[in-house]
Parts: sequence; C-alpha cells; structure tokens
Amino acid sequence: MTRHEVLPALAGEGRIALTEPELVDWGTRMGRQINPPLLVTLDGDLGAGKTTLARAICAGYGVSEDVTSPTFALVHVYDAPKSPVYHIDLFRIRSPGDLQNLGWDDITQSDALILIEWPDRAGGLLPAEHLPLQLRHVEGAPEKRVLYAGGHHGAPTGVR
Ligand SMILES: Nc1ncnc2c1ncn2[C@@H]1O[C@H](COP(=O)(O)OP(=O)(O)O)[C@@H](O)[C@H]1O
Ligand SMILES: [Mg+2]
Repeated sequence: MTRHEVLPALAGEGRIALTEPELVDWGTRMGRQINPPLLVTLDGDLGAGKTTLARAICAGYGVSEDVTSPTFALVHVYDAPKSPVYHIDLFRIRSPGDLQNLGWDDITQSDALILIEWPDRAGGLLPAEHLPLQLRHVEGAPEKRVLYAGGHHGAPTGVR
C-alpha cells in the first residue's frame, strides 16, 4: 500500500470551500483512515486553519490529549494507538539547518504520523514522499477555507 492510498474520496483533485465544522469532520475522517508511516504537510497563511485541521486529524487518529499549536515548542509528540504523532510547526525556524536541533532526521525516518505546518521552511530537507494539504482563505467568506489535498497548486479564486 502506498502512503497516498490513505486519502479519503473527498480529497480528489477538486476544490471545495469548507466551514470549520466541515473541515474538522473531513480531518477527523481522514485521521481515522491513516496508517503510519505518513508525513502530512499543512500549508497556508496564519489563521488558515492548519492547527485546526491537525487537531482534527489527531482526534481521528486516536490522540486523546488536547492538541495545541506547537508554535513555540516547535514539536509536540502525542501517543496514539497506531503510532506516535509528531506535530511540528516550522514557522519560527530561521534556516533548514535549525531542523537538526529538532531531531528532524529521526522524526522523519520514524514509523510515525507526522504533521508539519509551514513545510516550506524545511527547504530541501522535506522528504519527497509526503501528502500535501493546503488551506486557503476565501475572499468574501471569512467562515470558509479552501482545502487542496494531494498537490494542487492553483489559486482558489472565485470559490464559495
Ligand atoms: N472554515 C474554517 N476552517 C478552519 N478554521 C476556521 C474556519 N473559519 C474560521 N476559522 C478560524 O480560523 C482560525 C484558524 O486558526 P489555526 O487553525 O490556528 O490556523 P493556523 O494554524 O493555520 O495559523 C481559528 O480561529 C478558526 O476558528
Ligand atoms: Mg498553526
């Protein structure tokens, strides 16, 4: 089984504007279907919903602790029935070299579920094999976000 087969049917090439409860529902269902190892990247601006989605994925994956933003600790680790979960926020790192201090190599080579916010900060140290999720604000609809799953890079213009 390839890692990409964990994707639920909703996560095709399409685009879809989700309310927060819809995003949480999607993330929870996705989390239930994940089998480790899997690295998921969460791309999007501040407030796009990366941590909200990570929390939902963790809940579906069976994390029972409260999932909070790792903005300051950079890495949070949770227990779950199938594997540990590493939730990483790279917003505050200055260069990919800082990753070594986080134990990046051990984490990314482990058989865990790994959720990474601000993945671009890792530069070339981001493993090529990962599941990219992107969240975008929707102009004129502050209660909605567009979720791209599986590597779409287009701009979400005109989506409601
Ligand atoms: N449709 C939506 N999906 C996700 N979050 C939403 C949505 N609409 C409003 N929000 C709000 O946007 C904020 C997202 O914050 P957070 O998940 O911490 O973002 P990030 O980690 O990307 O900075 C939360 O306050 C959440 O309540
Ligand atoms: Mg966040």
